[in-house]
Amino acid sequence: MGTIKDCIIIKLNVIHRSAGDLAVVEGGKDAPFPFKRIYYLFNVPDGVVRGGHAHKHLYQLLIAINGSFTVVVDDGFEQQEVKLFKQNEGLLIVPGIWRELKDFSGGAVALVIASEGYDAEDYIRDYAQFIRFRNGDSVNS
Ligand code: TYD
Repeated sequence: MGTIKDCIIIKLNVIHRSAGDLAVVEGGKDAPFPFKRIYYLFNVPDGVVRGGHAHKHLYQLLIAINGSFTVVVDDGFEQQEVKLFKQNEGLLIVPGIWRELKDFSGGAVALVIASEGYDAEDYIRDYAQFIRFRNGDSVNS
């Protein structure tokens, strides 16, 4: 299980052409994990906070492919806020990190590249339970 120090910004390869730019995310290369799923958040109303959970096993790479938003990462010991606003940067979130996504700009699109398919059992949605999980106690949800 990692800490917020493992939640690094990864610069993505961008191919610039006069016809426009193209950013690439290859599993196991640009994203440091093979991935099974992508999803994206959009039409997020003003003032809404998303996330508010941790994952037991899932790795994710978050990219602001339009607009901006702020990610709070928390390993139960330290917290850090990272503002994502560049199309060539992804924030790696390792397993065992509580995260919140907030301050979405108008038109923001948050692309999430995930190492696994959707599994409700991989979520920890209660902060007190998350702290117990970080302390090595068993968590059943
Ligand atoms: P959730 O992960 O809680 O969203 P966020 O962390 O962005 O606030 O997911 C919201 C809802 O969507 C929840 O009912 C689960 C569902 N969902 C899926 O069915 N498949 C998925 O891949 C994801 C990410 C969520």
